[in-house]
Amino acid sequence: MKFSTEQERQTFNRIVKALPLIIHDKCDGYDELYGYKLIPGDEEDGDKTYYNEEVAHGLIYKLCKAYQFQYDEIVQHVISILKWRREFNPLSCAFMEVHDPELQHVGILTQYPKHDANKKVVTWNLYGQLMKKKHLFQDVQKFLRYRIGLMERGLRLLDFTSEDNDYMTQVHDYKGVSMWKMDSEIKKCSKMTISIFQNYYPELLYAKYFVNVPKVLSWVYDVVMTFVDARTRKKFVVLNEGKKLGDHLPDCPSQSYGGHDKTHDLLAQNIELVKPTEYGLFILEKRNDETVE
Ligand code: HEM
Repeated sequence: MKFSTEQERQTFNRIVKALPLIIHDKCDGYDELYGYKLIPGDEEDGDKTYYNEEVAHGLIYKLCKAYQFQYDEIVQHVISILKWRREFNPLSCAFMEVHDPELQHVGILTQYPKHDANKKVVTWNLYGQLMKKKHLFQDVQKFLRYRIGLMERGLRLLDFTSEDNDYMTQVHDYKGVSMWKMDSEIKKCSKMTISIFQNYYPELLYAKYFVNVPKVLSWVYDVVMTFVDARTRKKFVVLNEGKKLGDHLPDCPSQSYGGHDKTHDLLAQNIELVKPTEYGLFILEKRNDETVE
């Protein structure tokens, strides 16, 4: 953790100290973030062993950084993030729910341990393949639960104790999108996804590549960009040709993306099995038991 000023360090320490009470009073005791426990448990809690201080502090540091070490703002966002997680149950999206196979086929997770810092975990969205499958966007909640599930599984591959691997990289492949009118349902799903990521997943994106974007569709980029905040925009790179991606992500498949891997295509690189953290599993089981009762 790097603090630029003594004041930043003090804000971080203040948040760490205040968090148990904030969580108790304002978040109904919900203390899970991306599968990890943010605060140590009480003696009476059965869940004490799930707390890992290094990970918890890594996550709290990220939250402080996201809101420029402004104490009140951090507190306000922590409350809204934890309340949202308690209600939306993103862990269930990632590890319990079964999503439409047509959606699942376009969401890929890859891991490249030799890549530069924070380009090691890559989430791929092959949205171009959905161009003629507009029915998949009709039910916004269904789409969101799929997309959030993919995000959470990607986060599971990060290491919040390492500065080299605590952000993710994302790719949107628009291959197949040619002349195209901005469909209102796709627009709605995109807008809501962007808003959820901005509000509840801060300080997690390192870079985002948009590949196979036909020049005639640059206007779509301009439209969607109006939903995106300035800090996130700076992380975007548009590549008209898919094969240029290899210059940025060298271990990606040679086929379609111009990387060094000539043996595996993207599907072969896909990491299908991602397990929840122990605490994530504990929370999922607890919620499941409550529903059954
Ligand atoms: C974001 C879908 C076409 C640019 C998104 C998102 C979705 C989506 C669901 C939400 C963010 C995410 O899932 O990570 C689609 C579909 C398209 C399409 C289904 C057509 C079949 C385009 C085109 C462009 C574009 C042609 C032009 C470059 C963007 C941008 C974002 C975005 C800039 C914001 C990304 C972010 O904030 O993370 N799109 N899109 N989209 N899309 Fe598209």
